[in-house]
Amino acid sequence: MLKGKKILLGVTGGIAAYKAVDLVSRLVKGGAEIRIIMTKNACEFVTPLTLKAVSSSRVSVEMFDLNNPIEHIELADWADFTVIAPATADVIGKLAHGIADDLLTSTVLAIKKKILIVPAMNVNMYANTVVQNNIAIMIKRGFLFMEPESGRLACGYQGKGRFPDVNEILYYISSLVDYSRDLIGKKVMVTAGACREYFDPMRFMTNSSSGKMGLALARAAHIRGAEVELITASVTESIPHYLKPKSAVSAEQMFEACSETFPEMDLIFMTAAVTDYTFIEKHEQKVKKDNIDLQINMIRTKDVLQEMGNNKSKNQILVGFAAESDEIERNAGNKLVKKNLDFIVANDIAVSGKDETKVILINQIASEYLTGSKFDVANQIIDIVFEKNIVNCNMEDNDEMSK
Ligand code: CTP
Repeated sequence: MLKGKKILLGVTGGIAAYKAVDLVSRLVKGGAEIRIIMTKNACEFVTPLTLKAVSSSRVSVEMFDLNNPIEHIELADWADFTVIAPATADVIGKLAHGIADDLLTSTVLAIKKKILIVPAMNVNMYANTVVQNNIAIMIKRGFLFMEPESGRLACGYQGKGRFPDVNEILYYISSLVDYSRDLIGKKVMVTAGACREYFDPMRFMTNSSSGKMGLALARAAHIRGAEVELITASVTESIPHYLKPKSAVSAEQMFEACSETFPEMDLIFMTAAVTDYTFIEKHEQKVKKDNIDLQINMIRTKDVLQEMGNNKSKNQILVGFAAESDEIERNAGNKLVKKNLDFIVANDIAVSGKDETKVILINQIASEYLTGSKFDVANQIIDIVFEKNIVNCNMEDNDEMSK
């Protein structure tokens, strides 16, 4: 969470520097305390006055200030978390090789806490081996990186190098400031959204699931280092550029996509609202109305989660989601047992579609209430789910020892 955190923002000289204004404003709104260092080249694109006005805090550019000769050490010690956004190829090159010829690079050398780099540049510059090698050197040294977006670049080129959506940068910062990259090496599958069963080419049966909780879990798992397989039905918000979703609209497609992906996964979050019934008769052309009432026959779809519960291995953690309108904990608890799940997340259908949520995380022995934004709750769920697994592993180890 950003509230009360001391964030040091470095802005370097690329065209995306103007987008740092929005980033600063959103960090301030999120409750972060912020200080800014701009390189001299960044001042060609956006003025220190603009960033000072938006942040109401100190903006520093000069290395040699008679009033404060050790500002770089002071800022390095002050920050809980540092972000360089946008980061040019030049600053990446300097930081990879320990060059400290201005206030920003000198400060970074003195920082002992986490530093997130958000590169933005021309596609050919970003793909250049020298830049990629510098990034690899920095990652090895513990710097955190966020992948740029692909799309139309300011220089007219099309490709990877765009400054990411500011919302996504905020998700990165608010997650990495509190959590480590503890999911590196883990494979996590997340299904999200509302399935649809088509009756004819334009009419379908669905439900009101927004897919927001699934996207929050996929985001959080990715940012914490997991390899994420996201399977989406219909979702109401845009999918982050760093996730590559597979689409599965109907219950049958969801079953196929999950069956293919699930065996390789360590952790599975089944947040998708899978339709329980589908039309027996599906029409290729639009159905015309008649003067008599219409009766439609439907059949049951497969319960995807039940199939996974029946087939899961001992090391896989399977988490179901239950949207309930009454007797929430009891109904969800029954699903946990029936579908052979490790955990179930129960929520009231009244919070569906909202950004804030309140859920009950339940397993065979306990339950816990979690509240906050869907992203915060996603991080809390990931923490508990993995901790529980560690407890289980220890219990099994002890059993082995006592034999
Ligand atoms: N689920 C599934 N396949 C289905 C129906 C549900 O995989 N055909 C999964 C959902 O993704 C969710 C969990 O089962 O993780 C619970 O879904 P929910 O709709 O709350 O309950 P149902 O099992 O469908 O039971 P009911 O509709 O009677 O409450």
